[in-house]
Amino acid sequence: MTRIALLGATGSIGRQALEIIAAEPELELVAAASGSQPLDGLAPLTQVGGDLTELLDRAQPDVVLNAVVGFAGLPATLWALEHGVTLALANKESLVAAGELALAAQERGGGLLLPVDSEHSAAYQCLEGRHREQLDSLVLTGSGGPFRGRTREELEDVTPEEALAHPTWSMGPKITVDSASLANKGLELIEAHFLFGLPYERIEVVLQPTSVVHALVRFRDGASLAHLGYPDMRVPIAFALTYPGRAATPVPPLDFTQGLVVEFEAPDLETFPLLALARRAGEDGGTYPCAFNAANEVAVAAFLEGRLPFLAIASTVEETLADVDGAPARGLDELVEADRKARRLAEGAAVA
Ligand SMILES: NC(=O)c1ccc[n+]([C@@H]2O[C@H](COP(=O)([O-])OP(=O)(O)OC[C@H]3O[C@@H](n4cnc5c(N)ncnc54)[C@H](OP(=O)(O)O)[C@@H]3O)[C@@H](O)[C@H]2O)c1
Repeated sequence: MTRIALLGATGSIGRQALEIIAAEPELELVAAASGSQPLDGLAPLTQVGGDLTELLDRAQPDVVLNAVVGFAGLPATLWALEHGVTLALANKESLVAAGELALAAQERGGGLLLPVDSEHSAAYQCLEGRHREQLDSLVLTGSGGPFRGRTREELEDVTPEEALAHPTWSMGPKITVDSASLANKGLELIEAHFLFGLPYERIEVVLQPTSVVHALVRFRDGASLAHLGYPDMRVPIAFALTYPGRAATPVPPLDFTQGLVVEFEAPDLETFPLLALARRAGEDGGTYPCAFNAANEVAVAAFLEGRLPFLAIASTVEETLADVDGAPARGLDELVEADRKARRLAEGAAVA
């Protein structure tokens, strides 16, 4: 039996994980957590809000599925990595904000870090068992979100409702807005850098509007491997929870007779500046990725509350990045302080 702690059990990933766990006899849910919604005996141990590492200390799981949204997921990520407990990571924000600290914790703990983000799960599968020197580059794909093809003028007055209407994925509100702004691809770029140890110039982002190709890996001999499947998060969730067993899921294999369309295009970096801002924050290193993430969380919340126009998400992040010093964090306290400072600056930029 694999004993699972599911953090973010009431969310989009959390609910799909519950379905996978219920269908797979080898998986046992021993602990579940949410931010504020009740859990009503969902698991033997439950916790609503508070310090999730207390729940993990009590549960001693084999696998932590971290499906909390935002920086709030960081303590649980570090707990799993430090304790050598397999971490199935959906909470990309924690790895983006604390990449160096997380990798150092993993080095000490010696456990597995399995991505649940579909692109990174796909890349992980394409890269598994390969020698690093054979590799040329990694390609992350994105649908482009609901606003693909629009001009900046056409984005001036878009509403949260429009941003939340994603064409291919059904997800929680924060990541759906991130998908519409391409901040999500930016977060994923930084996530991939830390997960796979690749320099940023060897990670490319391309759009593939039907979300059938999740990632590609190019090798030095000119060959590329791609990971394909219908866009359904139950596949990467099940992959991570049952690794290396690859349990069956209800998701059907691709049907090539049903008008499958696979086309690629370059992202429009002028209209959607957050992808380039994330790349620069990643390349600048230190706590710039942490500040990128913090400012984006603040700006997305303000947009969802109707306090900030869609295009101001990017300008808020840009102004925040210009105002922080980005100095590397020597420990968790300094990282938390960098996050707090970036949030303060972003709040100021968002109301200005
Ligand atoms: N959804 C997807 O398809 C998808 C794909 C790839 C990656 N991801 C990543 O997975 C994570 C979760 O995404 P989601 O779409 O599932 O989000 P979501 O639907 O908004 O769910 C978020 C979950 O986190 C919980 N939560 C929020 N703050 C918390 C806190 N302080 N302590 C404990 N729990 C807290 C929420 O609990 P309450 O319900 O009580 O607020 C909820 O269970 C994000 O990092 C996202 O980027 C999601």
